[in-house]
Amino acid sequence: MFDHRHLISLEKFPKKDIQQIIDTAFNFKEVLERPIKKVPSLQGKTIVNLFFENSTRTRISFELAQKRLSADTVNFSASTSSLKKGESFKDTAQNIEAMKIDAVVMRHPSPGAPYQLKKFINAQIINAGDGTHEHPTQAILDMMSIQEKFGKIKDLNIAIIGDIYHSRVARSNIYGLVTMGANVTLCGPPNLVPKEISELGVNVNYNIDEVIEWADAVNILRIQRERMGIGLIPSSREYRRLFGVTYERMSRRDKELVIMHPGPMNRGVEIDSEVADSEQAIILEQVLNGVASRMSILYLLLGAKEEDGDEN
Ligand code: CP
Repeated sequence: MFDHRHLISLEKFPKKDIQQIIDTAFNFKEVLERPIKKVPSLQGKTIVNLFFENSTRTRISFELAQKRLSADTVNFSASTSSLKKGESFKDTAQNIEAMKIDAVVMRHPSPGAPYQLKKFINAQIINAGDGTHEHPTQAILDMMSIQEKFGKIKDLNIAIIGDIYHSRVARSNIYGLVTMGANVTLCGPPNLVPKEISELGVNVNYNIDEVIEWADAVNILRIQRERMGIGLIPSSREYRRLFGVTYERMSRRDKELVIMHPGPMNRGVEIDSEVADSEQAIILEQVLNGVASRMSILYLLLGAKEEDGDEN
């Protein structure tokens, strides 16, 4: 039983349901290994990918997931739409829904935009990243990748390093990993890792060398210059020196450190190329797991349940 109509946030999302998404994603990953990578699970469903912000991984993996599940899929891009002629968000959403769609996958630069969308349309909504708020499907694929690597999530030491303050990936990972019983430590410049965030059940440690020594896996976040004012970090070179996951830092450990990054990467800033391309990096496996995770989420929301569920 998967009793959700939407996937907008992982805050208060039940542990058993996160585990069900991950378990189902492993089943779909097997489909992706077959010569014919397609199942009929969402035949007859129509899904619109409503992207108001740039994306490579999330957008393509959602589209692939929809095609692998035999759904009909339509891509909307804000930059080539009638938004450019002054049409509102509400009118855009309601006109698209008038064409008889079942679900919307939306990325938007404003935190909370999916909750706004929910007021305007009846279709099911999946949050593909809303500003600095949440990116729940990224956290699911990250947790799937951790479980695949270690066989479990509970009791692992997971560090999230970088610009936590502006990161929707960090917020969704924190909710998900804490729910699943991992030990989570956040690390980054003090102005980008507010101490109050420890109220979410995580530790904060500003010493990256201690954090790398402690962790089983590190999820390294991009410096989000597009969401920052001037001066939040002194320079890329200074950032790398103080908080970059460098080859030198990684090599000091005597046991393997699993390297994760949601992408896009700033090589030579938060992560060195030698680290990103090392045997210890599972970054491209995360990308593949993104397709399987999104197949699982779409299937559980649209294909495997009654229409009435929780308004998550
Ligand atoms: N990880 C992630 O959200 O990447 P994109 O912005 O390319 O979708």
